[in-house]
Amino acid sequence: MEVLLVNGSPHKQGCTNRALEEVASALDAEGIETQIFWIGAKPVGGCVACGGCAARGACVFNDSVNECRALAADADGFVFGGPVHYAHAAGSLLGFMDRLFIPTAAQASRTPFA
Ligand SMILES: Cc1cc2nc3c(=O)[nH]c(=O)nc-3n(C[C@H](O)[C@H](O)[C@H](O)COP(=O)(O)O)c2cc1C
Repeated sequence: MEVLLVNGSPHKQGCTNRALEEVASALDAEGIETQIFWIGAKPVGGCVACGGCAARGACVFNDSVNECRALAADADGFVFGGPVHYAHAAGSLLGFMDRLFIPTAAQASRTPFA
């Protein structure tokens, strides 16, 4: 079993990553493989509802979302972590998740998310 942990902060080694390392450590102790994926420091835009992913199986914007999607295919579970920006999850993470979920929805329909 493998769990993919997504660091939705622009800081690769920041507080979000530290929190995810704690989660990964607890999962590792249970014999569950983990991998932390960082969404990167560039702004990540949201879904523009073009529908292109339905035909391509991937987002038309070829950024870290598609890199993560490739890893997600082998994951049995996901943990998304992100910093609070103005009382909500950071915008880049929300855009990232929207664009990740649409093309992966079918394959991930039985996969737990947190
Ligand atoms: C634009 C922006 C808005 C923020 N808004 C909040 C907030 O509303 N509440 C809060 O507690 N922290 C807020 N913070 C602080 C971050 O949540 C905090 O620094 C976070 O731990 C950073 O995590 P990271 O090191 O993984 O990037 C904000 C930071 C930024 C850059």
